[in-house]
Amino acid sequence: MFKVGIITASDKGSRGEREDKSGELIKEIMTANGYEVIEWKILPDEREKISKELINMCDNQKLDLILTTGGTGFSPRDWTPEATLDVIDRQVPGIPEAMRYYSLQITPKAMLSRSVTGIRGETLIINLPGSPKAVKENLEYVLPALKHGLEILK
Ligand code: MTE
Repeated sequence: MFKVGIITASDKGSRGEREDKSGELIKEIMTANGYEVIEWKILPDEREKISKELINMCDNQKLDLILTTGGTGFSPRDWTPEATLDVIDRQVPGIPEAMRYYSLQITPKAMLSRSVTGIRGETLIINLPGSPKAVKENLEYVLPALKHGLEILK
């Protein structure tokens, strides 16, 4: 079973001022699809905190997949894509391309997500947008291709 980590980037969530519904939803969707969610962290929107946790989940915990949610938009505090680019070895452009392609059929605001996907060692890192609606739409669209990708990562 592939091991999954979730990182929710949210200033309010990290201060306990907002329930992490998106993280919960990722956990539900991944568990229902046969993945094992073994880590789930809520971090403030800080580039270095996010990149450090990505490195920890990849190098120490050796997770197969990390799903981040939030911090992909235009707000001055949105740095999740940059934190991801700081730590990956190889980009996987097709996954965010697919997410935006599909999402644009639902809302033109999909073009505002700057999400990236990449590989660090044997771990795949995918940025998802922040709202539960966007999480569900994006994650369910890419899920059918993921297991094959994770299998050939080893
Ligand atoms: N993608 C889908 N499928 N559905 C959505 O509702 N919302 C968009 C976009 N992607 C959305 C979506 C919006 S409004 C924004 S601002 C960007 O994702 C970035 O979201 P984030 O800043 O929460 O990461």
